[in-house]
Amino acid sequence: MKLFVDTGDLEEVRRAAEWGILDGVTTNPTLIAKTGKGFRETVLKICELVPGGDISAEVVATDYDTMLKEALEISSWHPQIVVKVPLIEPGIRLVKELTQREIKTNVTLVFSVSQALLAAKAGATYISNFVGRVDDISDDGMRAVADTVRMVETYGYESEVLAASIRHPLHVVQALEAGSHVATMPLKILEMMFKHPLTDLGLERFLADWDKAGLSIFGTAPV
Ligand code: G3P
Repeated sequence: MKLFVDTGDLEEVRRAAEWGILDGVTTNPTLIAKTGKGFRETVLKICELVPGGDISAEVVATDYDTMLKEALEISSWHPQIVVKVPLIEPGIRLVKELTQREIKTNVTLVFSVSQALLAAKAGATYISNFVGRVDDISDDGMRAVADTVRMVETYGYESEVLAASIRHPLHVVQALEAGSHVATMPLKILEMMFKHPLTDLGLERFLADWDKAGLSIFGTAPV
């Protein structure tokens, strides 16, 4: 499963990219607005920080003609850019057009498998299924991810299912169980995935034993 970080913060992207396991970055208008910096400049820096990764940048118009203009502008900035498009009627039409022009797309704000079918039929590269926002209103957000994975695989659509709106590491585990192709999450969640109390305890013990024995990797053996 691909791991994306969901942020517009360059420092966060830099930190996640350092591990060498980051496959891409997703942004949305809220995340870009939070940076207080320009959209183009931010997205281009993200592309530089994650060479070869898919970097999602979202259109903000809601009428087809302006959405198309925005999509062509955004995609002209860098070959790694994936145009993020909301699941509305002109959005699906836009995805179909961009697919024909071989421009990658990420259909966002998807909450049901019936919506996901429309995105898959239009040729979306990624279908962003929001999990946490559904859990927040006491429903099971991961169900639509599992249903969408099954739909895409049963009918042979090329879209990859992207579990978005991830709130904690258990969502990541559930996304794996659902067969999701990608999970995007804030840096904080990626960092939480490293954590296990037995790892901390185990390391503490290894290092204490090593020190007690007076060993050194580079020095001579203790006498
Ligand atoms: O970027 C899409 C999605 O991951 C947003 O998540 O936490 O705002 O529901 P959230």
